[in-house]
Amino acid sequence: MLVANGCMKRPYIHGFITYHTTFNERKMMIRRVIFNKKGGVGKTSISCNLAAISAAVGKKTLLIDIDPQANASTYLLSDEYPGIKEKGLTILDFFKSSLDGGNIFALNPFFYHSSRPTPDSFVHQTRFANLSIIASHEHLADIETQLASRHKIYKLKELIDGLGSFDAVYIDTPPAINFFSQSALIAASRCLIPFDCDAFSKDAIFEVGRHIVDIQRDHNPSLRVEGIIVNHFMAQARHPRKIVDQLTADGLPILQAKLSSSVKMRESHHESTPMIFLSPEHKLTSEYQTLYDELERGSSL
Ligand SMILES: Nc1ncnc2c1ncn2[C@@H]1O[C@H](COP(=O)(O)OP(=O)(O)OP(=O)(O)O)[C@@H](O)[C@H]1O
Ligand SMILES: [Mg+2]
Repeated sequence: MLVANGCMKRPYIHGFITYHTTFNERKMMIRRVIFNKKGGVGKTSISCNLAAISAAVGKKTLLIDIDPQANASTYLLSDEYPGIKEKGLTILDFFKSSLDGGNIFALNPFFYHSSRPTPDSFVHQTRFANLSIIASHEHLADIETQLASRHKIYKLKELIDGLGSFDAVYIDTPPAINFFSQSALIAASRCLIPFDCDAFSKDAIFEVGRHIVDIQRDHNPSLRVEGIIVNHFMAQARHPRKIVDQLTADGLPILQAKLSSSVKMRESHHESTPMIFLSPEHKLTSEYQTLYDELERGSSL
């Protein structure tokens, strides 16, 4: 069943059209990308905390950090992160390997391919049960132009396709519409858009929607927007409520579960421990759980 959420009123936002999940889809590995071109809206916090809840309920979960800022890598790996960079087993090394070799004029071009690391060699178990990560690297941005000019936009999708069995993959993206966020949107089956209730964020949402439509049309017709996640929500404050009501009236799929502002979130980053493990009884943790349940139920679709 197709649910248009009233989006038909505004054709340019029809990237937000959402669908009920089929039984077969639910059994498949969920690939969620958390994306917004605006910085600081909560992409890293949301991707890591949803991934952590997924792991805590027993699902084999992978977080892929494709943001050169590497905040998700620091958050989930803490002291182990520098060692992984030293070993050359980050997403940077994966993308570099996709640029290596393949010289058609070589006597045996297949020689180059045989020495490439397998997708699973980039996966690292975190100290949290069921939660693994493919870490990022701050030098990732240095090879962006080269990757784009050599048409490597499907490489992340190929990496995920080649992984061992995971129940769920969450992808944290940079605050930009660029090669890396596009790769993530191509590799994903679902998209979540964090929104932090300010006016600039509202403008960004419409641009993000148009970009998702382009990706759906040109690269990934099975990509579905699951919804917009309202972060930093203050139920008592008039302004954020007004902005959220306006977006809802415009037909945008605002998810019911909302995340309030809490200093505990910063503490969670500082301690390199997602909320579900740091403070399972906290209000923000229970809001995250409600959000996770809403997504899993597909009740918003
Ligand atoms: N619900 C929340 N309550 C309080 N602080 C929050 C909340 N969500 C995120 N933050 C804080 O806001 C800051 C930005 O969050 P986060 O890094 O998750 O955003 P981002 O969209 O990934 O940023 P960037 O675009 O730079 O990657 C962080 O310091 C984080 O601790
Ligand atoms: Mg981030």
